[in-house]
Amino acid sequence: MTLTPELYQRFVDLIYKKTGIWFETTKRYFVDKRLDERIAALGLADYRQYYQLLKFSGEQTEMQQLINRLTTNETYFFRDFSQLQGFAEDVLRQLVKEKIKAGDKRIRLWSAGCSTGEEPYTLAIILLEMLPEPAQWTIEIMASDINTRVLDVARKGFYNNRSVKDVPMEYLERYFTQRFETHILNTKIRDMVTFKIINLMEEQEMKAQANYDLIFCRNVLIYFDTESRLSVLNHFYQSLRSDGYIYLGHAESVIRITDSFKMKRIGSTIAYYKP
Ligand SMILES: C[S@@+](CC[C@H](N)C(=O)[O-])C[C@H]1O[C@@H](n2cnc3c(N)ncnc32)[C@H](O)[C@@H]1O
Repeated sequence: MTLTPELYQRFVDLIYKKTGIWFETTKRYFVDKRLDERIAALGLADYRQYYQLLKFSGEQTEMQQLINRLTTNETYFFRDFSQLQGFAEDVLRQLVKEKIKAGDKRIRLWSAGCSTGEEPYTLAIILLEMLPEPAQWTIEIMASDINTRVLDVARKGFYNNRSVKDVPMEYLERYFTQRFETHILNTKIRDMVTFKIINLMEEQEMKAQANYDLIFCRNVLIYFDTESRLSVLNHFYQSLRSDGYIYLGHAESVIRITDSFKMKRIGSTIAYYKP
């Protein structure tokens, strides 16, 4: 069974159109392996048959199976600690002050590309720790991903040692229960987050997201090309309220993609806001 460069390119284009993720030819081995796995699981004769199934059958389950295998889902609690510290001590503090002044004790946050849940749960912990009298606030944390497998893991709230390696000991004791090598997140934090499947490239799903104070989309757009990054950032712009903030991963930036957002430096980290 051989995959010609021409057919490989057609697979890559199809995946790109669906997800925004662009696989360079250097990733060919990685993509080939995932295609091989699916072809074997389905008992198909060759790559061409699999391509036909994905492209023309109109059946979305198999595309979902493939996406679940192709996305990179690396994540852990309190990832990029200095960025989160800047968020907690600067942006969030300011936001809380403004909200109290306006008599509006509601915070809406979106973790887009949340993988197995460590990021939105981290943000839930930070909000609980930072808000004065958190019980008096309405906290809405929406967490989304294109990968259905990671969302299932996220909803369970069971984590291994590696996932919690950067959780401060005090929080580990307060918000997790340990059973051997597993750290079980307390229901108080689990209940603060709503998980949803959202493809960042789907117009209608993206347009439905509105009025967020904060959007975190960290370490997601690095896998996209410039065109799909622009499309996602334009949607985020619409989904944020004025003065709302967006956080990207430390290797990501809006520079050279859009000038809609303004930049704020906080220590050695950067956040963007909608002016
Ligand atoms: C490396 S993880 C980042 C997790 C977390 N934000 C962090 O920084 O630790 C990237 C996530 O983006 C998701 N993703 C990739 N393409 C996506 C798309 N088109 N729509 C929604 N999520 C996507 C992947 O499934 C993956 O879980």
